[in-house]
Amino acid sequence: MKPTTKHSSKKIQILPAKRLVGTLRLPGDKSISHRAAIIASLAQGRSTLNNFSTAEDCDSTLKCLSALAVKVNRDDSTIVIDGASDSALTRPAAPLDAGNSGTTMRLLAGVLAAQPFSTIITGDSSLLSRPMLRVAEPLRLMGASVETTPAGTAPLKIQGCCLLRAIDYHPPVASAQLKSAVLLAGLFADGRTMITESFPSRDHTERLLKEFGAEVEQQGNTVSVSGRVRLKASQFEIPGDISSAAFFIAAAMLLPGSDLTIEDVGVNPTRTAFISALRSWGADISVTVQQADAAEPVATIHVRGRELDHTRPLVIGGSEVPRVIDELPLLAVVAAVGNCLLEVHDAGELRLKESDRIAVISRNLRAMGADVVEHEDGFSVTGVGRIHGARVQAVADHRIAMALAVAALCSEGPSEIEGAESVAVSFPEFFPLLESLVER
Ligand code: S3P
Repeated sequence: MKPTTKHSSKKIQILPAKRLVGTLRLPGDKSISHRAAIIASLAQGRSTLNNFSTAEDCDSTLKCLSALAVKVNRDDSTIVIDGASDSALTRPAAPLDAGNSGTTMRLLAGVLAAQPFSTIITGDSSLLSRPMLRVAEPLRLMGASVETTPAGTAPLKIQGCCLLRAIDYHPPVASAQLKSAVLLAGLFADGRTMITESFPSRDHTERLLKEFGAEVEQQGNTVSVSGRVRLKASQFEIPGDISSAAFFIAAAMLLPGSDLTIEDVGVNPTRTAFISALRSWGADISVTVQQADAAEPVATIHVRGRELDHTRPLVIGGSEVPRVIDELPLLAVVAAVGNCLLEVHDAGELRLKESDRIAVISRNLRAMGADVVEHEDGFSVTGVGRIHGARVQAVADHRIAMALAVAALCSEGPSEIEGAESVAVSFPEFFPLLESLVER
């Protein structure tokens, strides 16, 4: 294979590819890794977490836990955590740094709300611009003091309350991070904490809490957790990250002649709407589930590249949005490159991610010749045949950088992605792994 990808500190050059061929396994799911580490820290005994995520975001969670005096040992992809048990975290010597990670900040806020000390949790400039009132409000209702900036953003100053009040909460937005903050705080409450979402978001916290011995019930869109139940340490194998797999799946299906197998991927149904969307355009993707009854289902995914069905428009909105939220920019790429029609509504949350993902993906795809119209709460893409390479800006947003890399592989002429180093936030191995599968 020719050397076609030039790395510099902030830019990467990508040449078009003919196809993707090979078999791969991916580092552990980022969402599950955060939760497994946090819940293991609250359990009694030693937990072992295998195939832990290599994402910088998950490293932020581990560093925060260490700063709270949890014993965390990392040996390659295995993490061993000696749980501090339910009430024995220690006041950190300095503000906690969540880096770029919204999941770290929001989930830990739920735990810190129940500690008998005051903590400040901060992050990078992107995280400091993201909304935090959504977690502050329920935690205040439970009895903690949570201070934000006047704009409702971090740094957060959290003064915990050892016995929180159980609440019955209906959040204004369907967000797994918000739901998880409330459930984690609920572990320390004086009864049963309930949360009812308008649409179900990813349910990894619920599944892992059960795995570690918590009393969790799910009925419709309502989840509840009992307070003051002792968690027990566990051994847990973290499945490969479906949101990282998504970039390879998209590239393989868009490049005719591709043949790609991804082993041991997590296929939690709250995360697989992306695959259903691609199938509705005629993609050839098979999902063979190996462990349907595990805490998190795991599968082998096989993709073959072929022409998509241009005639079928795809409309995504309402309850589907939380189940595909991280893959929406990539779906825009697929529609543009695959010559399909896509309309996304009810996805205003995308503007509040690591970047304004509606604006950023629309602008970059237009620079590559795609027909993308931006709406307040989504976008419309009308496939126009092949798009062309361009210099594009990932604005330090990892998922935008990877979505643009897929666009670049499938377009005409070279592309240059600025801010490509941001992929390390969720997937440091992304570019070398991609190159190892590409045929030109
Ligand atoms: C995540 C939930 C989602 C998602 C994020 C990870 C999680 O965010 O976009 O990448 O691990 O809980 P919201 O909860 O804000 O929707």
